[in-house]
Amino acid sequence: MKNYKKSIDVTALPGHVAIIMDGNGRWAQKYSVPRIEGHRKGADVIEPVVDAALELGIGVLTLYAFSTENWIRPADEIQGLWKILDYYFKMKLETIIRKGIRIRHSGRLEQLPEKTVNTITNAIHKTAHNDKLVLNFCLNYGGQQEILDAVNAWVTCRKGNESMTADSMRDNLYTAGLPDVDLMIRTSGEYRISNFLLWQLAYSELVFLDVLWPDFTQNDFYKAVYLYQHRERRYGGI
Ligand code: FPP
Repeated sequence: MKNYKKSIDVTALPGHVAIIMDGNGRWAQKYSVPRIEGHRKGADVIEPVVDAALELGIGVLTLYAFSTENWIRPADEIQGLWKILDYYFKMKLETIIRKGIRIRHSGRLEQLPEKTVNTITNAIHKTAHNDKLVLNFCLNYGGQQEILDAVNAWVTCRKGNESMTADSMRDNLYTAGLPDVDLMIRTSGEYRISNFLLWQLAYSELVFLDVLWPDFTQNDFYKAVYLYQHRERRYGGI
């Protein structure tokens, strides 16, 4: 495959890249291993992708790790995912801090196991002053839920009969303070948004790659950035 890194224009990078890490289950099936092995391998892919984003100088990377719809999966798969996440931060938090990465979370934390809530809040707290890259994990995240939560949060502090504005919506989203998404990547050859960042994807370029997430490489990431740079963004103009 072509080496895409060399073809990237570093003066025209996407500020915010968001990824639907899809295909862990199919990867496991392909190699006749339990589904959880696909998620484990999927977690291993995160660091090289984060390193690629850091090296390019991308400001925000959002990863869709668990949706509000994923609760219908078998309990042992869900528990396995929390274990992977806890282990990931146990092993990687020092490295994340050293690399200057700031962890954020988007979604509803309260339904997660207590240990995982502690893992995430500790990572957010310990990295709060880092500024090289924001790494935003979507966990128990749903785009429609996010918009409803934002509206309900806004209503509680609404002044008089003022109307909600785009700015007040943004300020109340889980992603408050982060820019809208420029590039959204979905792996595994599925062509859907699946309730991901519905507001923030409004003007995003969408890149769908036919590679299962556990097989995703830095070159695939560079390819997505390259494809983004060859799109014409018109924002409704001509
Ligand atoms: C989608 O693949 C993937 C998920 C629902 C979970 C993603 C989680 C990880 C990559 C690991 C999480 C680890 C950390 C540290 C955040 P799928 O299971 O829907 O795959 P399929 O469509 O092939 O069945």
